[in-house]
Amino acid sequence: MSLLLNRNTFGDPSNEGNTLSRTDAENLFHEWVLNPRLQLHMKQVAHLMKSWAAEKEQLDETNQWKWEMAGLLHDADWDQWPELHCKKIIEELEQRKIDPGIIHAIASHGPNHFGVEPETRMDKMLFAFDELSGLIHAYSLMRPGGYDGMELKGVKKRLKEKSFAANVSRDEINDACSRAGVSLDELVNFIISKQGEVN
Ligand SMILES: [Fe+2]
Repeated sequence: MSLLLNRNTFGDPSNEGNTLSRTDAENLFHEWVLNPRLQLHMKQVAHLMKSWAAEKEQLDETNQWKWEMAGLLHDADWDQWPELHCKKIIEELEQRKIDPGIIHAIASHGPNHFGVEPETRMDKMLFAFDELSGLIHAYSLMRPGGYDGMELKGVKKRLKEKSFAANVSRDEINDACSRAGVSLDELVNFIISKQGEVN
């Protein structure tokens, strides 16, 4: 099954600045995503994106919401239409005349699957957070205190154990960090500090 998108431009430049309202984004999220584990993953990535946009990129609230919205909806079609993953949510957001930058971030969140390269800061951070967030969440579930007291070195140990969260590609994580120009340590520490806030 190929998920290649076979195109590189998304949305219409004249729609720049258009976002969904929070209510509309949440309605779409709840209509399309029924699996609670996937919902949690998407909410975690949304929170990481918003927090990074605010704290590391110093973006204003309008732009923070763009980052958050990309995180919140990046896997929206995975639950019910896995064979149309990425294509369906992109087409939906194009129909709703959403900012092309948000659509491009979603389209490039898995360059090895969708064939679209992450270009902007938002694209690169979504790609970087996606897989690493899942591995760190899996680690939190096996710790008695969850995220409390979690340390960088514990996460790095799990990353070295090939059998732990074996479906998470270590090569992809390293690739994503180098594309984003962020060290693995910084990214892991950031996720540890933020992800436990989402439930
Ligand atoms: Fe994801």
